[in-house]
Amino acid sequence: MVDLIEAAAAVGRSVRVGVIGAGNMGADHANTLRRFVRGAEVVAVADVDRARAAAAASGARAYTDAHALIDDPDVDAVVIASHDSVHAEQVVAAVRAGKAVLCEKPLAPTLAEGRQVLRDIGDDGEALLSLGFMRRFDQGYVALRQAIDDGTVGAPVLIHNISRGVSGAPNATSEFSVTGSSIHEFDVVPWLLRSPVVEVAWIAPRCSSQVHAGLQDPQLIHLRTADGVLSTCETFLNARYGYDVRCEVVGETGAMSLAEPARVRLDAELRHGIGYAADWRPRFADAYRIELQAWVDAVASGAPTPLATARDGLAASAVAEAVIASMHADGRTTKVAL
Ligand SMILES: NC(=O)c1ccc[n+]([C@@H]2O[C@H](COP(=O)([O-])OP(=O)(O)OC[C@H]3O[C@@H](n4cnc5c(N)ncnc54)[C@H](O)[C@@H]3O)[C@@H](O)[C@H]2O)c1
Repeated sequence: MVDLIEAAAAVGRSVRVGVIGAGNMGADHANTLRRFVRGAEVVAVADVDRARAAAAASGARAYTDAHALIDDPDVDAVVIASHDSVHAEQVVAAVRAGKAVLCEKPLAPTLAEGRQVLRDIGDDGEALLSLGFMRRFDQGYVALRQAIDDGTVGAPVLIHNISRGVSGAPNATSEFSVTGSSIHEFDVVPWLLRSPVVEVAWIAPRCSSQVHAGLQDPQLIHLRTADGVLSTCETFLNARYGYDVRCEVVGETGAMSLAEPARVRLDAELRHGIGYAADWRPRFADAYRIELQAWVDAVASGAPTPLATARDGLAASAVAEAVIASMHADGRTTKVAL
């Protein structure tokens, strides 16, 4: 595979990307790759929903079978943005076919499935696999991490994270809130601190009356990293008012937080204010673009990607599993088993 990519780079050919899953995220990635990423060409899109695949393919090949895309000799590299439940088997198939893979989070819905993926692809396969934890490419999070490294507010003692959305998926469960949403914090907190999460605890207030049965919303999660820092993570999928992600790092001599991303201040209809993004796509559009560019550049040159690795994906899944165990044990403090 590396030979193939090096050959492509040598002749100046674009990396030919196939995108699996053409829902919100896959269609967005296909569009970003096509419009904003240098050196990439979207040559195929696969979705079990033929109309979605065709729409996102925008004239490129459209498949209803992900494995047909993976086996397509014209596809050098694969973005997996299908349902969480099929990530594992699609990752294994694509890596075994020798393709570079960018898999959206999570690697798999459970830690056991994630571990099996790593066993199935082996050490060589791991080098081909990157995980889509795009907050690592958000300029605000990058600046926070640099400021922590620089000691700008002294040694960190606390991190407060807030992740609120307008409305969760209609079938979202309490566990899905953890594996599908809070997992971003399970990746970004240890990445910011350069210290793994070792212990977690889950707690919740009364449930919002706006939420269906089976989903506790909001939830509050505590993470303790090996360096002793405590992080709070509020996840509120149905907060209604807008998509709102915040992060404040409290250090021994000061505090710093993500500033509002650049937006328009509106004065109209007796109101003065700044609007919210409706979901993660506009809020993290730059992060997705920078992440995809970094991935394509690495694939083209044969260099290791600077994205989250398979091991990072496994670490986040291990935290998610411990949080769910805590949820099922009335909030008992739970060690992370990795
Ligand atoms: N990084 C992020 O910020 C972020 C944000 C949202 C979603 N995601 C992840 O992206 C993935 C997609 O999420 P989404 O919001 O686009 O969901 P979605 O439901 O809008 O889209 C998923 C698509 O996958 C297709 N699909 C399901 N099984 C398939 C299969 N076996 N083969 C091919 N296609 C299949 C579905 O038909 C659907 O079109 C999920 O894994 C999710 O966790 C990541």
